[in-house]
Amino acid sequence: MRLYINVDHVATVREARGTDEPDPVRAAVLVELAGAHGITVHLREDRRHVSERDVRLLMATVRTGVNLELAAASDVLDIACELRPMQATLVPEKREEVTTEGGLDLANEVTRQGIRAAAERLMSHGIRTSLFIDPDPDSLRLAAEMGVEAVELHTGEYANADEAGKDAQLQRLGAVARLGGQLELAVHAGHGLTYENVTPVAAVPEVEELNIGHSIVSRAVLVGMERAVREMWELIASARRGIRSR
Ligand code: PXP
Repeated sequence: MRLYINVDHVATVREARGTDEPDPVRAAVLVELAGAHGITVHLREDRRHVSERDVRLLMATVRTGVNLELAAASDVLDIACELRPMQATLVPEKREEVTTEGGLDLANEVTRQGIRAAAERLMSHGIRTSLFIDPDPDSLRLAAEMGVEAVELHTGEYANADEAGKDAQLQRLGAVARLGGQLELAVHAGHGLTYENVTPVAAVPEVEELNIGHSIVSRAVLVGMERAVREMWELIASARRGIRSR
């Protein structure tokens, strides 16, 4: 099992202020030191959080591996082929969405052709290619037909299900993960996973990689708060001591 951390959410905070902190590249260093197996970033067509500068710096500094999420029809495909991250995950992308809302609609002929072309281009550059799909057998079979190495199963519906629906969603994930194993696809999972809901997904034997972002970045804000406040107060208190000793 590998844990990849999605650092987009660090960039989202930076962009909310239009400044240079917090820097997702610095966050990635800490994430790696903490033992994560890789760094995931989604370079969106509208660059709303992660920038090209971030991806280029991550490629130069990350020692584990970068999993670059991208939409098939975007200019990011050129960047991916130039930079050759360890892994690329093709995802659907809509400008109006807050975050990726669902898996690739591979049943749609036009979408499928676009994804196939993008996947073939990525693979021809030696990039391990994964498709982000909903946990359904038809999408999985269509992904397998494209010859990609991996699929990432969208866990959003599982995460959003109420207690009564969670079990059914978990069964669904487990069944598709098993089928993925039979089709010799590497099975990843992600989206909406939290400290409260990750355990059953992590226990699905075929799942070999989890991509988690929001929940970890959210917790980092809280567990780091005490130290952050203390460090600021130390600076302020030291300045005040300076006044008194003048
Ligand atoms: N996997 C994919 C394909 C995603 O688009 C995202 C969200 O950027 C994640 C995983 C991580 O989701 P979350 O931030 O909810 O943990």
